[in-house]
Amino acid sequence: MNIAIIGYGYWGPNLVRNFSSLSNCSLKLVIDGRQERLKIAQNSYPTIEISTNTDDAFKRTDIDIVVIATPVFTHFEFAKKALEAGKHVLIEKPMTSSVAEAEILIELAAKKKKKLMVDHTFLYTPAVQKMKELIIKGDIGKVNYFDSTRINLGLFQPDVNVLWDLAPHDLSILNYLSDDIPYSVNATGISHLKNGIENIAYLTMNYSSDMIAHFNCSWSSPVKLRTMLVGGSKKMMVYDDTEPTEKVKLYDTGYSVNSDEDRKQIYIDYRLGDIFIPKLKNTEALSGMANDFISSILEDRDPLSSASLGINVVKILEAAQQSIKQNGKEIKL
Ligand SMILES: NC(=O)c1ccc[n+]([C@@H]2O[C@H](COP(=O)([O-])OP(=O)(O)OC[C@H]3O[C@@H](n4cnc5c(N)ncnc54)[C@H](O)[C@@H]3O)[C@@H](O)[C@H]2O)c1
Repeated sequence: MNIAIIGYGYWGPNLVRNFSSLSNCSLKLVIDGRQERLKIAQNSYPTIEISTNTDDAFKRTDIDIVVIATPVFTHFEFAKKALEAGKHVLIEKPMTSSVAEAEILIELAAKKKKKLMVDHTFLYTPAVQKMKELIIKGDIGKVNYFDSTRINLGLFQPDVNVLWDLAPHDLSILNYLSDDIPYSVNATGISHLKNGIENIAYLTMNYSSDMIAHFNCSWSSPVKLRTMLVGGSKKMMVYDDTEPTEKVKLYDTGYSVNSDEDRKQIYIDYRLGDIFIPKLKNTEALSGMANDFISSILEDRDPLSSASLGINVVKILEAAQQSIKQNGKEIKL
């Protein structure tokens, strides 16, 4: 199978490097609107063809797979054209700018019997894989809360707010780790720019079980934090992605609630136990993602980072955007 990759900006080179190292497919074509980017691609990969014309990816009959690594507002148009031309498609996160667009793509992929996948890279990290393993084994117990902080002095995006830029990572991880389905969201945010695009935002997801999820995303922090807390009925987990090796820590920490009926008081018993630091594999997430995509085509199965996970993430982002514009009003999903 021959691959064309559209977009050789910041993220595209990582995709090119990983897809070009796979043995069961061949990276044939790299497309970008900017000649200077294509020159860099050609210097690094002399055997790969280059083009400034995106139509080459759709019209060439020797291309089987189109990978889209351009800004979010272009995803729908490129993916639609590629699917209509009978190509398998991988789209960078977030899948599309709206739920309606994502639905059209999913329907089209089914009609054309082609694979449609979204690159939610974090699902393939050894840390997230380990957290999933610990949850499945029952070490955490029932997940009660999920609290994520993804802040730094980030690149202000010209077209999407900070939630659309950063939260897809956390939302995809939550979607993967928890089977609970949220019924509503509340979000607030602020723009310190004249364009009204929020550079700081807080998102809360509400569930009918006793679970709650919260996300803090910012491009305006002096320090880089990538921390996720997963609180369970048995144990609690901390995932710190800035740690070089000890990214996941499992705390045998918890509390139990006892009430005194007569005196109408509540007593909390705290438990502070050992901390377990699991050993993580040393594999590159993007390599796992590229492998899963190609294998899903060859084996005709859904990839882990499927289009249905992709649309779930867009649903939350769209609802969060509505909530921000209405000063944090609860938006039902
Ligand atoms: N999976 C991840 O962890 C991850 C990380 C970073 C970015 N991304 C995603 O990758 C995508 C690209 O982000 P980026 O940071 O690389 O952006 P970027 O702006 O650095 O690169 C985009 C490239 O696309 C090219 N381009 C844009 N419109 C085009 C068009 N109409 N025709 C041809 N070329 C066009 C630009 O010239 C540019 O080189 C986004 O969806 C982003 O969310 C994913």
